[in-house]
Amino acid sequence: MVGRLYWLPQITFYALHYDRRNAMGRLLIKGDIITSTENRELRSIEDGWILAEDGVIRSVTREKPDTDGEILDYSGCLLVPGFSDLHLHAPQYQYAGLYMDEELLKWLETHTFPEEARYRDLSYAEKAYSLFAEDLRKSETTRVSVFGTIHRNSDILLCEKLENAGLAGYVGKVNMDRNSPEYLVETMEDSIRDTESFIREVNERFTSIRPIVTPRFVPSCTDGLMKSLGELAVRTGTPVQSHLDENLSEIEWVRELCPWSENYSDAYFRNSLFGQTPTIMAHVCWPNDEELELIRRTGVYVASSPSSNINIASGVAPLRKFLDMGINVGLATDVAGGSTLSMFRVMCDAIQHSKIRWRLFDESLRPLNFAEAFWIATRGGGSFFGRTGAIEEGYELDLLVIDDRDARSTLRPAFSVAERLEFYSYRTPGDNLKAKFVKGIQLF
Ligand code: GUN
Ligand code: FE
Repeated sequence: MVGRLYWLPQITFYALHYDRRNAMGRLLIKGDIITSTENRELRSIEDGWILAEDGVIRSVTREKPDTDGEILDYSGCLLVPGFSDLHLHAPQYQYAGLYMDEELLKWLETHTFPEEARYRDLSYAEKAYSLFAEDLRKSETTRVSVFGTIHRNSDILLCEKLENAGLAGYVGKVNMDRNSPEYLVETMEDSIRDTESFIREVNERFTSIRPIVTPRFVPSCTDGLMKSLGELAVRTGTPVQSHLDENLSEIEWVRELCPWSENYSDAYFRNSLFGQTPTIMAHVCWPNDEELELIRRTGVYVASSPSSNINIASGVAPLRKFLDMGINVGLATDVAGGSTLSMFRVMCDAIQHSKIRWRLFDESLRPLNFAEAFWIATRGGGSFFGRTGAIEEGYELDLLVIDDRDARSTLRPAFSVAERLEFYSYRTPGDNLKAKFVKGIQLF
């Protein structure tokens, strides 16, 4: 990114000018390639070549492809697929890293809801979402599924900022019509009307950012609102995102609120908010066996958020079980439950959580190894967005270039490409990003 200062008579303004490479055309990218295979192993090529055409990877080879095109020489750097952050809250970014001493329900009431209420003010939203989008642009994340707030116009602003920053994915206008403070609540009618018009406007105005139906969680939405949102999602073919089985008090509360449902998942399912259109459920720390089976059967994606789950003491998710059952799973920061935007950090936390679960609670659930966690963070979550998350023929060019040359200077003998990725992920997660491509467009 090159920031330029323009002077005009009377006005000074700072224009952000991105030196973006267009997705159209042919690129030959050279570097140390590492990706995840379909069966969750690492595959690397030292000094290899990626050939991309119109934003799509055409070949990944050891030898230079015999074709012309623009050459981008990143020799000595790691070429890594982009990460998908399957769940985060844009309006919470301003306090990410603070207030980790409460559990979920108290945390929402004390810190989250008052902050989200500020987004009624468009000028606050303008500033805060600019900062959020800019930091996300500079991060290792290429695809996102984001919560806004209940405020429709601020949510549109958020879409604008993310699309202009070059990111791709989903943004949801949050719905809340019960058990919410009077300063952050809507009527069912307003909630449905604003969601419908939000979906329409996003579909009309944006290309990389798409709308997603976003009931905050069952405690915040009346039965009537959930039913209408499910109908809206199905009628417009819009995906859905929400929270599920995050915290024990929350689950107990849902049991009281929805005596008509078998369990928390079923409360969404009966309202067409659970796999009837592509669906992401965040956290899923405490699923029972029936819920796991329903998640598998409906193809619902679990957005596992280990950093958040430990920060607000929610639980330790059964990641190995998700993999063994063939459940769709990705990773997520859940900012501001998670304190940073770094998906490298989340990936390492996921490995550690699987070890805690295995050692302390369930020896049948083997811990994840590094290659498996990398698969979840890239290919696993990426598949929600289409063909992204791998450096492989036919995949969209979502790519990170990492200059790890300083980071790997130790007295040890030379590292393999796979060792360099692991070393970097634990030691300097998110540092020294040299370039980033989303759908073939270079963001920096
Ligand atoms: N459940 C309902 N709302 C939220 C939220 O904002 N963050 C998290 N982590 N869980 C939630
Ligand atoms: Fe969340």
